[in-house]
Amino acid sequence: MTTAALIVAAGKGERAGGTVPKQFTQLCGKPMLVHSVTAMSSHPAITETTVVIGEGQEDQARSAFGESVNFVTGGAERRDSVRAGLEALVGKGVTRVLIHDAARPFLPAAVIDALLEALDRAPGAVPVLPVADTLAKGDTILGDNVPRAGLNRIQTPQAFHFDAILAAHRAWPAGEEATDDAQMLRRMGQDVMLVPGDPMLEKITHPADFAAAEARHAATLISRSATGFDVHRFEAGQELWLGGILIPHDKGLSGHSDADVALHAITDALLGTIGAGDIGMHFPPGDPKWRGAASAQFLEHAAGLVREQGGIIDFIDLTLICEAPKIGPHREAIRASIAAILSLPVSRVSLKATTTERLGFTGRGEGMAAQATATVRLPE
Ligand code: CTP
Ligand code: MG
Repeated sequence: MTTAALIVAAGKGERAGGTVPKQFTQLCGKPMLVHSVTAMSSHPAITETTVVIGEGQEDQARSAFGESVNFVTGGAERRDSVRAGLEALVGKGVTRVLIHDAARPFLPAAVIDALLEALDRAPGAVPVLPVADTLAKGDTILGDNVPRAGLNRIQTPQAFHFDAILAAHRAWPAGEEATDDAQMLRRMGQDVMLVPGDPMLEKITHPADFAAAEARHAATLISRSATGFDVHRFEAGQELWLGGILIPHDKGLSGHSDADVALHAITDALLGTIGAGDIGMHFPPGDPKWRGAASAQFLEHAAGLVREQGGIIDFIDLTLICEAPKIGPHREAIRASIAAILSLPVSRVSLKATTTERLGFTGRGEGMAAQATATVRLPE
């Protein structure tokens, strides 16, 4: 059984406004289109994913995906775009196809499961939500109620036996408007099953829908905290970098990179939140590439990994442990620098400092330690 996913993303997004079509607008850290493509291609039953894009959108699409996705050029109406995608799948042995709007970025795997299961019973299946509000006619004056019992809100993806939906598209009379693919199959006298939809699948149509989608997404995330710890040795003649700021002092920290103990501890804390090992695994100290390297790039890398997983960085708490220099005079500069590296407001970065009462290696001024806690929200 070959099951293809066809994601239509060739629209202009006119109602959503913005400088780029809505499917390429950043949503929860990624271009909107990337969310549904990832959901489709990571589902075990989906064997290939094709994205239908508009003419002239090739560069935008390539920059969102690299080379990993098949692209087809769509048409003037959504129906033309679906048709182009279906025709591109002909001859590839596809038996089932899921047709999906890029404008519905969050696609639960359970909906895909339910649709594919329903295809064992009928040539088509659609996800639906019940209508909760009272429905009534009227323009400026309230008219009669419309009974809502038995009414459904239809979402995508819509799932079909490939040959059946291809035949329905090819037979559709030119010039006649089709509301969706499932209605085209019904016109051929075929049954379409209803399966439970999901509020996460709500379509993004108007400008306000972006913030609502971000909020729906955030509500599905769970909080995680992880710690990071680092130590570097003081040496005369070295620069002292803390949190990406050069601090005037009579000695500095030595290490393979710029030895920014603060950024190293935060980098490890962030890597910890996604179980991605530690800084040494990502930037091996033996690698000449990192000799004297600015540690901001290590932190940016870790933050990028968290965000690639759909994560939100909520808070960083950092403690620097040393007798000298005094951190207080540099506190705000260091906080601002860390916040800038992580693209966070300064209020989400905390910096504390302590001595160890002249005890131990920090007390003797032989080195400096840093510990950090990162709090993030991540998909479960
Ligand atoms: N679509 C498409 N080809 C078209 C028109 C629409 O592939 N010629 C896609 C859109 O990219 C979207 C989905 O169909 O993923 C649903 O359409 P809609 O929400 O109406 O998106 P747009 O047409 O882009 O938006 P608008 O109507 O506001 O311009
Ligand atoms: Mg449209």
